[in-house]
Amino acid sequence: MSKLQLSNDGNIKHLLTTEGLGRDLIHKIFDLAESFLNVGNREIKNVPFLRGKTVCNLFFENSTRTRTTFEIAAKRLSADVINLDIDSSSQSKGESIFDTVDNLISMGSDIFVIRHPEPGMPELIAKHVGDNVHIINAGDGNHAHPTQGLLDAFTIKKFKDRFDNLSVAIVGDIKHSRVARSEIHALSTLGVPDIRLVGPSEFMPTDMGQLDLAIFENMENGLKNVDVIMMLRIQKERMIGSIIPEDEKYSERFGLRKKHLLVAKKDTIIMHPGPMNRGVEIDSDVADSKQSVILAQVTFGIAIRMAVMSMLIGKNI
Ligand code: CP
Repeated sequence: MSKLQLSNDGNIKHLLTTEGLGRDLIHKIFDLAESFLNVGNREIKNVPFLRGKTVCNLFFENSTRTRTTFEIAAKRLSADVINLDIDSSSQSKGESIFDTVDNLISMGSDIFVIRHPEPGMPELIAKHVGDNVHIINAGDGNHAHPTQGLLDAFTIKKFKDRFDNLSVAIVGDIKHSRVARSEIHALSTLGVPDIRLVGPSEFMPTDMGQLDLAIFENMENGLKNVDVIMMLRIQKERMIGSIIPEDEKYSERFGLRKKHLLVAKKDTIIMHPGPMNRGVEIDSDVADSKQSVILAQVTFGIAIRMAVMSMLIGKNI
């Protein structure tokens, strides 16, 4: 997978997963994102990095944050943006996704941002397209959501400055979460020494045994002295055939409440990739507290997506 997403000179050609991305490359993305942070505060909110390029958003699943921030990021880079409405597209007449992509390439698309329920679909499309077309995985089933993993790690860097002394707890339905997978790979690569997974045993991943992860089934133990708490919703849409826990019972055991912050470090930050289910995995008084950086994650997501798209096109400075 990493071979497909890297070009011979080590730059990113497609972004499909955070797994296998090197530490230096991630820091390069962060440095570029840092330089883009203030573009949103300017009177004229754009830079010419993607002038003449066309970014095509293909979302086969719903999205609020990812689709919109990719559109904003592309526009701030001066790209033309196409948001294909899948429901009213010719997919309904039986056209394959590959034919759809080929047609959009014929119209001049340079970058495709693809969200699809099937794990591996962005990789298949990356294999299908030619050298001058770039694919960004915006979430494929429970597999990966690399720009979310990167923007979460970037948010941690902004608030905690370094990674090599941190304890990070990821709480909830990790098994069905592409966000958690992408975060875990990014944070491991960046050198976080203590990554904890907190939740019921049925929500623990079975495919990450190669990584050094601590598992907790109890909130108080799992959150003890942590620097970062990352909450996840129950991904009911990906739990086909599994028993879905009742919200109330789940919330009693694994919902984040004010009392839990007493066991974490005083300056712990609260994160959530969204969408939040208030009153289930997180209480409103925690989500809206001073320690919450949930909306900062969204803002930083624009800069990270600007950085990734610029690097795909070969514009790094
Ligand atoms: N975090 C995230 O992927 O949110 P959306 O589903 O709204 O894009």
